[in-house]
Amino acid sequence: KNRLILDTDGGVDDAQALLMLIANGRTPDAITTVFGNVGLDVATQNILATLAIAKVDVAVHAGAGRPLTQPVIDAKYIHGDDGLGGAPRPDVVADVASEDANGFLIETLHAASTRGEKIDILMIGPLTNLALALRLDPTIINGIGQLTIMGGTVYGRGNTTPAAEFNIYADPEAAAIVFGADIDILVAPWEPCVLHNMTGEHVDELFEAVPESPQKAFSTALARHARQTIAGYGGGDNFRFVDPLAAAAVIEPDIITKSIRASVDVALAPGIARGMTIVDPSGRLGTPMVSLIEEVKLERLIALYAASIAFVPQHA
Ligand code: BDR
Ligand code: CA
Repeated sequence: KNRLILDTDGGVDDAQALLMLIANGRTPDAITTVFGNVGLDVATQNILATLAIAKVDVAVHAGAGRPLTQPVIDAKYIHGDDGLGGAPRPDVVADVASEDANGFLIETLHAASTRGEKIDILMIGPLTNLALALRLDPTIINGIGQLTIMGGTVYGRGNTTPAAEFNIYADPEAAAIVFGADIDILVAPWEPCVLHNMTGEHVDELFEAVPESPQKAFSTALARHARQTIAGYGGGDNFRFVDPLAAAAVIEPDIITKSIRASVDVALAPGIARGMTIVDPSGRLGTPMVSLIEEVKLERLIALYAASIAFVPQHA
């Protein structure tokens, strides 16, 4: 397996996705953080807290605090002001490895490409960090293996505006740079996240089977918040898989049962369509073809999530 870099904006489902990666043997080799659900500093602290709960030591590099051109937005109305839905944090968390995710990405991807190695990247927040790195040094593309992105919508079913999904809407220019680059991206758009969910009582059953622990208390709080946020991941006591769906596709690629090949571009003009991902299976948009997930094995998705609840951190 290639080494893995996780790029994340540190919200409730980002923390769930990170715990799933760790519990299922795909701990990231490094993490870069970005503004999004909450501000960059809170997002970074949330990832450090999640790593401390899981008792794994991963280098975290803080990245962009704002989008390329537009003013910064957040999704606190979904993730809460703390970005983790009030989940109880450990007293001690590690420091960041650097505040230069950009430099880290360029240096690491360059080094990989000179060694003929590829590094996989999973992006579950706005695409600003990679867009900045690509703009500064387009040759880093040679060091990128599988790029997986949670973001966008196939049929214009937005979750932040009627047309746009949050990770794209938060920085449309960055998304246009990434989808315009010659990278064979695997996209987990919003639609499959709406399709794959489980009932609240099923979540309760999963938790009841797990002995009490700080990790379980943390995961319980995340799940409770995810179920409650009507506009976001759940609502009506349902639990939707959002960033965890993208993480599952990285952990277990054959979890995907249906996907489409299409070229994707991003609407940038100010107005109601800004941030919308335009998806064209005929490839006429002139951007490279990518794969967009339509369906995964729900029972496997639940199993990978359940493993993250039952995960018992090994003392470092
Ligand atoms: C995406 O936006 C964020 O709120 C979530 O963490 C997810 O990455 C869903 O649109
Ligand atoms: Ca996210």
